Amino acid sequence: MNDIRLRAVTDDDAPFLTFIMNTDAVLNALNELPTQLEDWVCAIREWKHDEDEEDYIICNGETAVGWLGINNLESIDKKAYLKLAAILPEYHNRGIGFAAINQIIEMLRQRSYQKLALYTDLENHKARACYQKCGFEVVETFTEEMANGKTVARCMMEMVL
Ligand SMILES: CC(C)(COP(=O)(O)OP(=O)(O)OC[C@H]1O[C@@H](n2cnc3c(N)ncnc32)[C@H](O)[C@@H]1OP(=O)(O)O)[C@@H](O)C(=O)NCCC(=O)NCCS
Repeated sequence: MNDIRLRAVTDDDAPFLTFIMNTDAVLNALNELPTQLEDWVCAIREWKHDEDEEDYIICNGETAVGWLGINNLESIDKKAYLKLAAILPEYHNRGIGFAAINQIIEMLRQRSYQKLALYTDLENHKARACYQKCGFEVVETFTEEMANGKTVARCMMEMVL
């Protein structure tokens, strides 16, 4: 039984972010390169001063199982983006992504945001299935060279809040 809560990222979360972002499943799904603890210490420091962005740890009860970030929060058109969602591989396919993103959707609705959008790989079927369950639809497709050098078929997904 999931008990999914979101809490704001703190300085103490740098080791967890380093760990999750270096797991093979997450690195491969995101086409990212390995990162070091210092990268996340610096990122968290920058996020604190960035009014355009908010980052959250996804907890199942007391256990940190993932993180997600939203940005473009200062946009005049009130269109926010889900910058990233990543859950520890052993917690995939348990509805945790769905529950966490729904909490973000509800929070953004209460703050009068109009749309939520995101970018993902067309071949990331797990992510797309999760996002479709949440109410996102593909609105644009394109190719993009990713951090790991791969050229990937990508899409923008969007939902009206
Ligand atoms: C994408 C991610 C955040 C989703 O979180 P999650 O907790 O696994 O998502 P959920 O369990 O809510 O939903 C996943 C859905 O995908 C489905 N699914 C899994 N593999 C699939 C596949 N190969 N094809 C189609 N659907 C698939 C699951 O059955 C589930 O749907 P259901 O609840 O209707 O059965 C998580 O899997 C993750 O961190 N992946 C690695 C990083 C990543 O890809 N991030 C997104 C980048 S944009």
